[in-house]
This record gives sequence, C-alpha cells and structure tokens, in this order.
Amino acid sequence: MVRIAPSLLAADAARIETAVEQAVTAGADLLHVDIMDGHFVPSLSFGPSLVAAVRRRTALPLDVHLMVRRPADFIPLFAEAGADWISIHLEAAVHLHREVAFIKSLGKKAGVVLNPATPLSGLEEILPEIEFVLLMSVNPGYGGQTFIPSSHLRIKRLKDWIRASKLDVLIEVDGGVGLDNAAELARDGVDILVAGNAIFGSPDPIAAIGRLRKAANP
Ligand code: DX5
Ligand code: ZN
Repeated sequence: MVRIAPSLLAADAARIETAVEQAVTAGADLLHVDIMDGHFVPSLSFGPSLVAAVRRRTALPLDVHLMVRRPADFIPLFAEAGADWISIHLEAAVHLHREVAFIKSLGKKAGVVLNPATPLSGLEEILPEIEFVLLMSVNPGYGGQTFIPSSHLRIKRLKDWIRASKLDVLIEVDGGVGLDNAAELARDGVDILVAGNAIFGSPDPIAAIGRLRKAANP
C-alpha cells in the first residue's frame, strides 16, 4: 500500500487547522511538514511552534523534512515539538552518521534526503541505519514545481538496491507529485508520496487525497 503524505506547505497558512482536518478526514497516512531556514534553501517556512500546534490537533504521524543547515541544532527542537519522522539532507549534514543516531536516540524515525543531483551512492554507508530515504523530485525550497523526470530512474535504482540488500528502508518522494505521475511512481517502488499543490491547490483536498491514493494503489 503506497502511503499518502499531504504537505502543509501548500495549505493556506491562515487555515492550517482546516488542512489538518482535511488530511485526517481523507485518511492520510502522514502529515509532511517542510522546515526551511533561509540558508540551505532560499525561503522560510514553519518552526517548532507550528509543529507543536499541529501535534495538539492530530494523532497522525508528523513527517518533518528539515531543509536546514546545521540540522543537529534543529533536531531536538522538532523532536520536542512532536515530530515522529525526521529527515535531514545529505548535503547539509557534516556528521551524517551522528545526526541519524541522534534522531534515533530521541525515539524518532530517521530519514536522509537527497537533492535531485546528489548521487545515490552517498547513501552507501548510512542506508542500513535509517528508516527511510526521501528523494527530492524537485530542487527543494518551493512548492508547486515541476517533477523532474529522471527521478523515476533514481527511485527504481534505489528500490533495487534496498531489495537486494534485504533492508527495511522506505522510499518517500517529494516534489511535483500528482495524479499524472502517482501510478508510475508506485510502479517504480515508492512507498510514500508527498503532495502539496496536488492536494491543497485543489478545490476539494479531501477528494484529491482519495484520487491520489487510488491512482497509487490500483
Ligand atoms: C519542496 C518541499 C515539498 C513541497 C512539495 O521544497 O520539500 O514538500 O511542499 O510541494 P508540491 O507537491 O506542490 O511540489
Ligand atoms: Zn518536503
């Protein structure tokens, strides 16, 4: 079963609570929360107080995607705020192994994120240590961008690698995901689809989640 993770970045910032309720009603599996620091990516988004507020309103697992420099400084803040899954960028982590261990020591699921041009081989040593890989299918920093087609091949190669190594690591894909590519992504071997615009840019986000789930789980 491919899981659906609505990305709150695309929701109306003044109506985050509505977006959370819609995700819950539609049976979303995770809530994806994008954290941007204005350094690793050009923009700013949410902080720990938003994560804590969302935590108080839902029992859905919170999937916190840290697009930040110096991730070790932020991991405890978001863990404390109620994140369940925490992912950090390979490109931002100087001491990746230590930071992954830190996330796990706080009782959270640890993920590593790769930008579209970062070689998969960078995962070699860390793959057995993590619960999920988040493959960016756009360059991070903004919602509503176009899916980069070469992501399909990256997902398939990573899936083959995980299977061949008999590892229990999930693949999540983020950026430009929608009804036009959900089925193919499922065939590639994706376990979790993140979608922002395809859900909250739609007039009926609840129906959009349902359609996405159906497309990914025919
Ligand atoms: C992009 C973020 C994504 C974003 C996806 O930097 O990491 O999670 O919300 O938005 P869509 O689905 O609109 O591309
Ligand atoms: Zn994200």
